[in-house]
Amino acid sequence: MNNIDKNSLENAYRLFESNDINFIEIGTTKGLQAIHKYLFHGLYDFAGQIRKLNISKGGFRFANALYLNEILVKIEQMPENSFEEIIAKYVEMNIAHPFMEGNGRSMRIWLDLILKNRIQKVVNWQFVDKTLYLQSMERSPINDLELRTLLKENLTDEIDNREIIFKGIEQSYYYEGYKKEDE
Ligand SMILES: Nc1ncnc2c1ncn2[C@@H]1O[C@H](COP(=O)(O)OP(=O)(O)OP(=O)(O)O)[C@@H](O)[C@H]1O
Ligand SMILES: [Mg+2]
Repeated sequence: MNNIDKNSLENAYRLFESNDINFIEIGTTKGLQAIHKYLFHGLYDFAGQIRKLNISKGGFRFANALYLNEILVKIEQMPENSFEEIIAKYVEMNIAHPFMEGNGRSMRIWLDLILKNRIQKVVNWQFVDKTLYLQSMERSPINDLELRTLLKENLTDEIDNREIIFKGIEQSYYYEGYKKEDE
């Protein structure tokens, strides 16, 4: 694990430990930017900043930077009235991929905030298999059934359980290819 990711992981823990998470706007682009800034300030010069360049991953091209700001306004207006609507919104935000790096980690926190607020549940990420999750994310722009099924199986109503939250953060950083033990 490199220093940026180590420091960022510490920031992620602190976001919850300090209760600063309770001051993040829920379900908006501004809220997602605040999370990204919290995780990566001083580590990436683009922390919290919407990207101006085009990016792709695994052959998938994320939203064109030219239209990104317009797209983000549309996404934050998407409804959050059910688990299905919330996942649909998460999928669109992933397709937007507003930052140069760190989208996955900041968006999983953003998603949990919406779920917690709207349906009093969060994802128990420690039990969400990395390969299945990444496959379902790759599939999600075409069809979000796999992702919906995977995350629905792993919802918990223990929304204030620190151990579940902290194990979830570790898992989220592990999806990116880092493991605490690699230090
Ligand atoms: N081919 C793909 N199509 C759509 N979404 C993808 C694809 N590959 C990865 N993703 C999503 O993008 C995230 C990675 O984006 P990015 O590298 O910007 O974020 P990160 O926080 O650095 O990485 P990670 O989420 O792996 O920790 C993955 O977690 C996954 O949710
Ligand atoms: Mg990455």
